[in-house]
Amino acid sequence: MNRALPVVRLRVPTDEDAVAWHRIFDDPEVMEFHGGKARDLSVYEELTARQRRHDAERGFCLWTMLDDAAQVIGFTGAQPWPQDWGPKGEIEIGWRLGREYWGQGYATAAALMTLERLRAAGVESVVAMVLAGNERSIAVTRRLGMRLENVFAEPKYRQEAHQYRLDL
Ligand SMILES: CC(C)(COP(=O)(O)OP(=O)(O)OC[C@H]1O[C@@H](n2cnc3c(N)ncnc32)[C@H](O)[C@@H]1OP(=O)(O)O)[C@@H](O)C(=O)NCCC(=O)NCCS
Repeated sequence: MNRALPVVRLRVPTDEDAVAWHRIFDDPEVMEFHGGKARDLSVYEELTARQRRHDAERGFCLWTMLDDAAQVIGFTGAQPWPQDWGPKGEIEIGWRLGREYWGQGYATAAALMTLERLRAAGVESVVAMVLAGNERSIAVTRRLGMRLENVFAEPKYRQEAHQYRLDL
């Protein structure tokens, strides 16, 4: 990719960001690989509060992404893998953008910033967990140079989940 990546800013999610995440992710296309349906505001209130705790304890979290006009466009960052199946004990990187912000390099730009911050925090290795059909997300792992390491049976959506890894 030779184009300059777009400008993106990352911040620890605020209370208000829960409302913004709820609004921009209220879209079946965005949620296709997350159960297909919009989630309640309470889900994002819990998720953003949890990210603030991760930031306080570890110095990283799933950050709110802002474009150069300071609009909330999604989240990208890292957190301890939150499920009781899969890569328990690992640090997971993840990304989710409002539909109108796809196809502009924002997720890749934010993921590269995340990797730099993780290196600075002393994290040695990260995983990404992506359902097998999620080609756009798999393309992001490819742009980051991640390698397919493992395949799990995802218990909730009954699909294969790919585990990608990058050593930092
Ligand atoms: C997964 C997701 C974040 C990927 O977003 P994305 O915008 O496709 O990813 P990137 O930021 O890497 O952008 C790459 C695209 O931007 C294009 N692009 C345009 N301008 C660009 C620029 N200046 N620099 C880089 N890429 C640019 C690339 O060509 C590429 O387009 P293509 O996919 O049509 O080839 C997005 O599809 C999403 O939010 N999906 C729903 C949530 C989800 O499934 N999350 C992942 C769960 S594992």
